[in-house]
Amino acid sequence: MLERINSPGYESLSKPSQEALEVLRRKKAESTALTAAEIGVGIGATTVEMLKVMDGVGELHLFDYEDRVADLIRDIETRGISKGVKLIPHGNGRQTFNSYAWELATMAFSLKSKGLPLEMFDFVYLDGAHSFHHDAPACVTLKDMVRPGGYIVFDDMYWTFNKSPVMNPQKKPSITKDYSDDQLDRPHVELVVEVFMAPDARFEQVFLTGNQKPYRPVFRRVG
Ligand SMILES: C[S@@+](CC[C@H](N)C(=O)[O-])C[C@H]1O[C@@H](n2cnc3c(N)ncnc32)[C@H](O)[C@@H]1O
Repeated sequence: MLERINSPGYESLSKPSQEALEVLRRKKAESTALTAAEIGVGIGATTVEMLKVMDGVGELHLFDYEDRVADLIRDIETRGISKGVKLIPHGNGRQTFNSYAWELATMAFSLKSKGLPLEMFDFVYLDGAHSFHHDAPACVTLKDMVRPGGYIVFDDMYWTFNKSPVMNPQKKPSITKDYSDDQLDRPHVELVVEVFMAPDARFEQVFLTGNQKPYRPVFRRVG
């Protein structure tokens, strides 16, 4: 998987998220051993850089399809780049309604049933399906799983199926069976952020630059 970084056809997935890394660096400056999560790993471009920031300490939870998570962890271990960061796989199957949202909810359920606190993450980068049906339940669950002072960074705030080069209805006609015209046209991540994050008094939005409408909004748990 890591061999795809910077190879033809993977240009966009080869660029690590600078916003995620900036926030992870801020958190690392506050505390050495972090529990971090990347939800949607792609080809590992951001994962590899996150490991550098974590500098051999802490835990990194990786969520994606099982085969992707397994490939990525194998590559990281073969190359010896985790340097002591504990990698925790959370792979799911490829069924239509399966995703990291289910994995997170079942994790939360299991913690609750053992009487354990849900708050476990110092940092989460949510960069998965960008579909409301996966990201809304993931977001709602994650809000309770982030520790006070912890961060959630969202990717692709304004991404839509219609704008996607590979998932638009011309390229992938079957998409019209799954989503309405409104759902194809509207950014799902924006809907998730505006409905579930922005009004939640437990979180404040952190602006990394002067841009008040960032493509990768950052939220810090303050309550
Ligand atoms: C844009 S990529 C992530 C890029 C990565 N965060 C980075 O910065 O390099 C989105 C990822 O979400 C994963 N994904 C999409 N739908 C999913 C689902 N239903 N279950 C699990 N993973 C999913 C894809 O397999 C893909 O790896």
